[in-house]
Amino acid sequence: MANTSKPSFYITTPIYYVNAAPHLGTAYCTMLCDVQARYRRAAGYDVKFLTGMDEHGEKVAEAAAAHGFDTPQAWCDSQAPLFKNLWRELEISNDDFIRTTEPRQHHAVQYLWERMKESGYLYKGSYDGWYCVPEETYFTENQVKKSDEERETPGQHLCPDCGRPLERVQEESYFFKLSAFQDRLLKLYDEHPDFVQPAFRMNEVRSFVEGGLTDLSVSRTSFDWGIPVPFDDGHVTYVWFDALLNYMTAVGYSLDDEASRAEYAHRWPAQYHVVGKDIIRFHCVIWPAMLMAIGEPLPEHVFAHGFLTVRNAETGKAEKMSKSRGNAIAPQDVVDLLGVEGYRYYFMTDVAHGEDSAISFERMEQVYNADLANSWGNLVSRSLNMSAKYFDGKTPELEADWAKKDSPLRAIACGIYARYAERMDVMDYVGAKDVVMELVHAANHYIEDTAPWAVAKDEARAGELSDIIVNLLESIRIAAHLLEPFMPETSAEVLRRMSLAGEADTCDLAGACEWGGLAGGVEVTKGDALFPRLASDKK
Ligand code: ME8
Ligand code: MG
Repeated sequence: MANTSKPSFYITTPIYYVNAAPHLGTAYCTMLCDVQARYRRAAGYDVKFLTGMDEHGEKVAEAAAAHGFDTPQAWCDSQAPLFKNLWRELEISNDDFIRTTEPRQHHAVQYLWERMKESGYLYKGSYDGWYCVPEETYFTENQVKKSDEERETPGQHLCPDCGRPLERVQEESYFFKLSAFQDRLLKLYDEHPDFVQPAFRMNEVRSFVEGGLTDLSVSRTSFDWGIPVPFDDGHVTYVWFDALLNYMTAVGYSLDDEASRAEYAHRWPAQYHVVGKDIIRFHCVIWPAMLMAIGEPLPEHVFAHGFLTVRNAETGKAEKMSKSRGNAIAPQDVVDLLGVEGYRYYFMTDVAHGEDSAISFERMEQVYNADLANSWGNLVSRSLNMSAKYFDGKTPELEADWAKKDSPLRAIACGIYARYAERMDVMDYVGAKDVVMELVHAANHYIEDTAPWAVAKDEARAGELSDIIVNLLESIRIAAHLLEPFMPETSAEVLRRMSLAGEADTCDLAGACEWGGLAGGVEVTKGDALFPRLASDKK
């Protein structure tokens, strides 16, 4: 149920086709959303984080048949636990999981058809052109010709986007008058330059729209695995016309009861649709045009990330990770190497989100050892050990005005939340991590500079020793809060070890990150190493 006293933050992943098991790429996008959802919850928003599965269309029907299932539905039912279990394992905190074969989606899509019919932007015709099943995308004769020429494969008719063979489709179909929205879309991009993020993706979208738009076929008759068009037997909904609506279905669109209306008013429009660069046109051109046609508000931002790529051993070239190339890495392989939290940290803070990124096990290991084992894990273990050792298993007792004392760590921590939030707000997780690691590295240097083990030998310097440990523990407390969206279990554990378990679920992150929150004279648990160092032969 919506909590209407807090501002809503609604974030979505693409709903994934049920054609194969989820892989690192699927998990990457879902994790990007998860980090943002966790950050926003901690920052005081009422978050709804949606993910799910796209179950209709030719591609899914083909996968079902290829796997020997009697119906696409039975196939999808068999795959749903794979997705849901992976998300649980990777600590994905989605609040809802939508499947397009659910009654709520059926209802919403049929309602959409009625609204489209009323809008005047729908007409019946016949489609004659090209179709890419793996991408579930239509291509005009001209688009295909141009790309065939560029590829120097005349006569082969390969998909301009993914390069796989196209299908010729000729069928009666309803069309959405996409061509009528060119000016309104260009105006949207002008007035809301941050509608598409990162900024460089906007140019791509704009030039596509400037090149002119063709009307979009939105129903299929040669095929029946889809939601029926309510006013025309034999037509089923084109899979994208169905899929995009999931974002509104999940917040009560089309439902008439009071609770659903309130939910829809509170949640819609979404703040972020996070998608891969392969589906930008659907989200930045077709989706806003559909919403304009039926008079619904537009999402605030579409964030498009690049692809994870792997280097081909023979050619040395980076290629998109995908099942068909046989180069997909199963998430479990990374979990086995780094643990779930190491996995999350590596992908979220080392793999830049805008461009394509080559990933490698060597790099994963480097980042894990440098940042987690040697820096963060080591800082926590040394500091907690010293506190326990010098202060009788506890944190030092705190003086009344301890938080006002100057120290190099306090200077860095002061204002750290604002710097971090500025990066997190635009999904720059690499930048946010740099802000936190600055404090972590400074704290490790501070240990070297102050040499608490030497100070501890001199009873006359007891006050100094206490200040050093307090500064360290307070820095750790703040860093744990800031790292929570990336590594929720580690942060909770660190706070538990400092007897601050109750702080882990804060919804006032800014307040929690102010210097002065430490508890004095409470039990410290040393515990096992948070991130045992990896030996490179451990792969
Ligand atoms: O397009 N690197 O579903 P889909 C990074 N059902 N991300 C990757 C990736 C890679 N190598 N491979 C896939 C669909 N992805 C539609 C969406 S939404 C209304 C309907 C991620 O299963 C990336 O986010 O093909 C991409 O956009 C998405 O998976 C596509 O998933
Ligand atoms: Mg795809």
